[in-house]
Amino acid sequence: MLKSDPFLERYRPGCLDDVAGNHLAKRMLRNWLTRMGIPRTVLFCGESGSGKTTLARILAAAAVCLNRNPEHPEPCGRDDCPCSRLLREPIMFGRGTTCRNGVDMTVDDVKYDFRELYYGEPDAPIIIFYDEIHRAPQKVRDILLTLVEKYRDDYNFVLMASTWATNELEHAFINRFLRVTTSAPTETEMLSLLRRICEKESFPFDDETLLNICRDECCVPRNCIVTLWTQASQL
Ligand SMILES: Nc1ncnc2c1ncn2[C@@H]1O[C@H](COP(=O)(O)OP(=O)(O)OP(=O)(O)O)[C@@H](O)[C@H]1O
Ligand SMILES: [Mg+2]
Ligand SMILES: [Zn+2]
Repeated sequence: MLKSDPFLERYRPGCLDDVAGNHLAKRMLRNWLTRMGIPRTVLFCGESGSGKTTLARILAAAAVCLNRNPEHPEPCGRDDCPCSRLLREPIMFGRGTTCRNGVDMTVDDVKYDFRELYYGEPDAPIIIFYDEIHRAPQKVRDILLTLVEKYRDDYNFVLMASTWATNELEHAFINRFLRVTTSAPTETEMLSLLRRICEKESFPFDDETLLNICRDECCVPRNCIVTLWTQASQL
């Protein structure tokens, strides 16, 4: 699994058009980018490997991109723009960006992250991303809500959290976020993504083989891509 990571990163979509399926989620993000503005608090929910972190990165990159305009509402990805780092690095990391996993998050971590907002720049929002937020202790989520309320009017930040277990979260928590739900694409959508990858990599698989991968992996993009990669490396 580990060795396929660079391959997965290579095929992590950098724009909404490249995200397979997930039409409703993509429509929400497009709407924010073109008309409504990026919300303060977004919760990405959905099956593991279906695109939560991918969409969060596109949104984070858009939030810091300096070259967006009505004709190009998505992050530009140019080398000299802060958005390119967010789109390219395997982890959302670096100045103005905080990334944590719920599994080892403490109340002090959250307090620390919000104190960092004091040092933000007026034009560039601080990006906070908490993955697997359901694995954090409830007191971490409680303090998070308190701090969001305290800071939301005076500081420029985008808080994104991600979970594949919405049922483990308190309603009060979920309700304070705008929710984006991801799911596996259809078989046709997943097949066309695998076809595109095969073309680029010159993998010699026919449609029947690719369809079998889609079915075996229930069309979950990460799992399909890892299986494709595994089969190709066994050739
Ligand atoms: N909808 C999608 N379209 C195209 N590729 C996708 C899609 N979803 C996932 N992928 C591929 O799978 C990889 C993992 O996806 P991602 O990190 O977005 O999943 P996730 O939903 O955040 O999973 P987890 O719950 O494990 O964090 C990406 O690097 C990308 O290659
Ligand atoms: Mg993720
Ligand atoms: Zn940019």
